[in-house]
Amino acid sequence: MPKGLDISRSSFNKNILHKKIKLLHQRLSGVFIECLPYEEFLDRQDKPDTLFYLDPPYYGTETYYKDFFTKDDFQKLASLLKNLKGYFILSINDVPEIRALFKGFHFETVQIKYSCNAKTTKQSQELIISNYGF
Ligand SMILES: C[S@@+](CC[C@H](N)C(=O)[O-])C[C@H]1O[C@@H](n2cnc3c(N)ncnc32)[C@H](O)[C@@H]1O
Repeated sequence: MPKGLDISRSSFNKNILHKKIKLLHQRLSGVFIECLPYEEFLDRQDKPDTLFYLDPPYYGTETYYKDFFTKDDFQKLASLLKNLKGYFILSINDVPEIRALFKGFHFETVQIKYSCNAKTTKQSQELIISNYGF
């Protein structure tokens, strides 16, 4: 086990695992899971009554997803969303570059706390972007 890993807070309990898997199985019946580049997925699923929830990489963290998501992708994503038939909600870090790229859409801000472990937390602001008012 890696040094410092705190498993005392783990919610894993093998005695209820079977029950949890059964509930998950029921919840996911009729659900299709697809793994596609965002442009293909948007194109394939876009209908007037579709609601997309988008959780792209944070602006400035594109290098975490090398060759998959670049700064140009934010521009491309914003253009695709401008021509969407359905609805979308997108959550992202609140930075001026994102506000400029997604100008014209509805913005809401939410205060959040990041915590990678129990000892450190960081206050930050998330931007919720949508093509309809709340
Ligand atoms: C902030 S994470 C979202 C995590 C996810 N919502 C979750 O709760 O586990 C960003 C996600 O974007 C995905 N991603 C990166 N480039 C992509 C692309 N070109 N098309 C579709 N998804 C992409 C990554 O694989 C990653 O899962």
